[in-house]
Amino acid sequence: MKDTFKQFGIAIAGSGSATPTATLDNDQLSQLVDTSDEWITTRTGIRMRHVATPEETLGQLAARAGRDAIAMANLSPEDIDLIVLATSTPDDLFGSAAKIQGEIGATRAVAFDLTAACSGFVFGMVTAAQFIRTGVYRNVLLIGADILSRWVDWDDRATCILFGDGAGAVVMRAREDRDRLLGFSLHSNGQKNHTLNLSQQAESRGLLTGLEVGRGQYRPITMNGREVYRFAVDKVPEVISKALYHAHLTTDAIDWLLLHQANQRIMDSVAERLEIPTEKVISNLAKYGNTSAASIPLALDEAVREGKIKAGDRIAVSGFGAGLTWGAAIFEWGI
Ligand code: ACO
Repeated sequence: MKDTFKQFGIAIAGSGSATPTATLDNDQLSQLVDTSDEWITTRTGIRMRHVATPEETLGQLAARAGRDAIAMANLSPEDIDLIVLATSTPDDLFGSAAKIQGEIGATRAVAFDLTAACSGFVFGMVTAAQFIRTGVYRNVLLIGADILSRWVDWDDRATCILFGDGAGAVVMRAREDRDRLLGFSLHSNGQKNHTLNLSQQAESRGLLTGLEVGRGQYRPITMNGREVYRFAVDKVPEVISKALYHAHLTTDAIDWLLLHQANQRIMDSVAERLEIPTEKVISNLAKYGNTSAASIPLALDEAVREGKIKAGDRIAVSGFGAGLTWGAAIFEWGI
């Protein structure tokens, strides 16, 4: 029988990013909680973060990042077939992707949200890749965006110092002659779910005698920092090694290591374990803090626009976070 199934390759053709204008530095934070610039800088590497005002929406940030990525890819919004929005903080629990599709004017696209916390961008990249590889869609806009400042407990010094808001995006395109997504690996472990949560805590409301329902509301972020730290330094090198194995590559073939921007000590430790020199580690955490699903595409876009990442450079990205979830992908930048 003639084999008519055709697999397409993938190119990462453009990037964009957006952050709110307002910033909050460590000294300002120390007016809110019992902390100091010295403690935050030495334990995390974070110096400031951008925070959204009540009027700013996730959709606005995501649309700005998305438009810039589409422009860099030399496409117009009508060329986009699929929009995947990786977020844990949508403007609307029913999903924010379709509204962003409307704002961008991507009239032909189908759009949906994907939730995998700080792993969302990597999980989104792999999800988008399945549609491209099978020939279903040719041009996909993948956005990672989060406004965690809305869900942080601003009285909890162990978590409020970590997070910031932002959005980043890439355009992934089908290619017939080569494949620039070289390998990936995704994982989750729900048995460790309790270590990092932004969970529903419904308030009971009596409707009728004998019938109660819950009024929806969420508790602020809770995290066992030490456990998440241990999980990250253990699992991230492992998942990158697995993705490299699938790519038939070893770490010396990597030009850039781009990890979810959670903690500089995590990045340093992972690089050391993989024997990747520090000059190959991309970090913009000091300026933005942990922007969750946005952190990888935000750092990618900055490095591309600064001319640091060049066409054909090989990048290992890895996201990790709530779920617990973790994943890695190896790709070459550019069309
Ligand atoms: N300022 C001053 N002191 C503080 C602060 C602060 N902001 N926060 C905690 N401390 C104190 C603690 O109370 C503790 O004091 P004690 O020894 O008297 O009890 C001490 O500092 C040490 O606390 P630890 O929690 O052990 O500090 P640690 O060195 O582990 O750093 C941190 C904490 C930065 C949160 C670290 O554990 C970490 O980065 N964990 C990983 C977080 C992460 O990567 N999350 C990614 C996923 S995010 C997502 O998916 C949404």
